[in-house]
Amino acid sequence: MNVLVVGSGGREHALVWKLRRSPSVQRLYCAPGNAGISQLAELVPIKSGDIDSLLAFANQEKISLTVVGPEQPLTGGIVDAFESRGLAIFGPSQSAARLEGSKVFAKEFMKRNGIPTALHRRFSVSEIHEASSFIDDLRLPVVVKADGLAAGKGVVICETRQQALDAVQSMVLDKVFGAAGEQVVIEEFLEGEEASLFVLTDGSNFVTLAPAQDHKRILDGDKGKNTGGMGAYAPAPLVTDEIKENMVNEVLIPTLEGMKKLGTPYRGCLYCGLMIGRDGVKVLEYNCRFGDPETQVVLPLIDGDLGEILLDVARRKLDSQSVGSSSAAAACVVMASAGYPDSYETGKEISGLSEAERESDVIVFHAGTNQQGGSILTSGGRVLGVTAIDHNGDFRLAIDKAYRAAEQIKFQGAYYRRDIGQKALKHMRTAVEIR
Ligand code: AMP
Ligand code: GLY
Repeated sequence: MNVLVVGSGGREHALVWKLRRSPSVQRLYCAPGNAGISQLAELVPIKSGDIDSLLAFANQEKISLTVVGPEQPLTGGIVDAFESRGLAIFGPSQSAARLEGSKVFAKEFMKRNGIPTALHRRFSVSEIHEASSFIDDLRLPVVVKADGLAAGKGVVICETRQQALDAVQSMVLDKVFGAAGEQVVIEEFLEGEEASLFVLTDGSNFVTLAPAQDHKRILDGDKGKNTGGMGAYAPAPLVTDEIKENMVNEVLIPTLEGMKKLGTPYRGCLYCGLMIGRDGVKVLEYNCRFGDPETQVVLPLIDGDLGEILLDVARRKLDSQSVGSSSAAAACVVMASAGYPDSYETGKEISGLSEAERESDVIVFHAGTNQQGGSILTSGGRVLGVTAIDHNGDFRLAIDKAYRAAEQIKFQGAYYRRDIGQKALKHMRTAVEIR
């Protein structure tokens, strides 16, 4: 079949990489893609938000399956547009994508369905006074979230009540995120460790993929500013079989059943952002798509034809037996431009890419690159996701291999964290000590 992947980051490179290995996939396109993706798929110069042009392309090239990476086209209704024209597409409908597109919707949904999450309330512009007294009632720190999509900047962890009030005011009064901040959610801060669980579901049947951990902060030791994610590993040893069973029974099943009851069954990849703390598993957020960079470590661990699996999801006939999982371990180190997540320069020439991939089971996923003549240049904040796999499941070997590969790659101002995966090793040591 002919497959179109929509998006241009490391997540989409990982999707294209796995689809290229799928016997069911013949022609593979990516819109708009990047320099790394161009080695595996034909690039199509259409932006991921241009639903009409993507639709016209899919019709013209007889695309059997479209796979959507980023959230914006999903919350913008790309799935509804394709399906109404009889085209198979992997992702949730616009109304199901509200689980990510509206934090107010997601929180009220969780409350109605008894899904564990942080204590919270929502407020709009006429309720600033109530917001202020709710902030007074919460223990510090307090978390303030814009309702809608805000390019990953809509969550503020506030150490003082004044900061929390300022965050509310800047969202609902000053409208720094436009309509996305017309309502805010204010919630308690949850203690614990985060994990990302991806679930493939056709609305009824589901299969969970290897649990992963992201590294959201820019500096080692989880310090400094929040980023899109500076590295990941899977399967996360933090998520024991018992915790995974809780995730499935307390979060996943009630979520899928709740969406079905609403008349908006969830299809596609549901990303559950979870906090694992002293009192169990709680949902931090839902995303309506694969995560980035977690996808770079989760997809290499799937055994099976990803093209077939995603098509089965789109056709509402997922067979969970078709998705195997290997016993490998994977680690991904993100290389970023100097200055990221604040302003940064682009257009820096990258060298050492083929040297980095010389060792077996190292894949350099491109996140922000483009090609100019014979050179590959940086074009984003997150530039590359250097991923390594150890087939025997040894994290130490996977992490060391990823760092050895990253050391081969040079561009001016290249920055990466030096402690990716250390948490996995710590959990494994603890597990051994307990035994
Ligand atoms: P969200 O977009 O809701 O996932 O928030 C982004 C990040 O903010 C999460 O991955 C957490 O690191 C952090 N966060 C969000 N909500 C909370 C919370 N209630 N308690 C602690 N950290 C949170
Ligand atoms: N890794 C965070 C995200 O994809 O939202």
